[in-house]
Amino acid sequence: MMYSALHESIEARRREFGSDLTVMGHHYQTEEVIRHTDIRGDSLELSRRAAGLDSEHIVFCGVYFMAESAALLAKQGQKVHLPEPSAECSMALMSPAFLLEAILRFLTRSGRKVIPLAYVNSTLEVKSVVGRHNGAACTSANAKRMLEWAMREGDAVLFLPDQNLGNNTADLLGIPEQARHILDIRKRGERLDAAAADTSDLLLWPGFCSIHTRFSLRQIERARAEHPDAKIVVHPECTPQVVAEADAAGSTSFIIRYVAEAPAGSTIVVGTEINLVERLADQHKERLNVLPLVESACTHMAQTTEERLSAALDAVAGGSADFLVSIPDEVRLPAKAALDRMLAVCA
Ligand code: 13P
Ligand code: SF4
Repeated sequence: MMYSALHESIEARRREFGSDLTVMGHHYQTEEVIRHTDIRGDSLELSRRAAGLDSEHIVFCGVYFMAESAALLAKQGQKVHLPEPSAECSMALMSPAFLLEAILRFLTRSGRKVIPLAYVNSTLEVKSVVGRHNGAACTSANAKRMLEWAMREGDAVLFLPDQNLGNNTADLLGIPEQARHILDIRKRGERLDAAAADTSDLLLWPGFCSIHTRFSLRQIERARAEHPDAKIVVHPECTPQVVAEADAAGSTSFIIRYVAEAPAGSTIVVGTEINLVERLADQHKERLNVLPLVESACTHMAQTTEERLSAALDAVAGGSADFLVSIPDEVRLPAKAALDRMLAVCA
């Protein structure tokens, strides 16, 4: 296969750094970028692996919150770089830390023990608030285990920012709908329904992923009509209605396994980010027919390109801190505590 000059220069840089550099990437990265990674994974695998690396530099191909998690879990002196510093996750930005702090203060005003459980798709500041309130982080791969843990730890749980992952996980645990309440966070929390909030076991922040909420019941109906024997598997950031109509739902690593274990000759329709679906279709093309439920791309993930990766590697080689992810001291310990609790519960 013929590669571009850009591809070759990135590979040359990687050889030059040797064991001083680890390139990590999330499965939603494009093929051009992911093929330069030493480690690829879903959010949970990447957090776990970041905690055990020895290289001086980690270049993280993904979105901001992932690079921040890697920086929190990295060893002292290790440097984490993000090739596209403006690659944010729109869902993570739906729960500002100041509002979480204010709402937690309200929910706990009478001494009720409310445990915040933050999906890793949240900002560093949010993880810091969560850590200070004895809460933890979770990913889509361990949300069930972490929600069980949080329910045991307190009188109620505040799950944020993804209401869909929260509701889908509650369904798995059999938490009745009457025991859940989606918080009204408008007007800086002035519209909160105090009675409902004070009596519910599971409080849900009203965030969502616009990439996964694009999947709909109509698309599932169409897929079933066009491929009656197909199995449909979706990510739990999809709405509970879509999850209920699919044959299976699970994290990125679950979807990868589900496709790998499908019987030869079958058709699998996948409802998640298109780069992953296309890669799975290509990897299994001799054996399976893997199709997207509909093409849905994460534009935040797509901000990391080969050009950006090359620029970041050049900067790191030149000793520049332009792409460095820095963690302010005042949030480091509490935010890390939220991640460490997750890793300890799921060890
Ligand atoms: P997972 O990697 O936990 O499956 O999450 C998907 C996602 O949306 C990452 O942003
Ligand atoms: Fe955020 Fe959704 Fe993109 Fe994941 S897929 S990075 S949750 S916007």
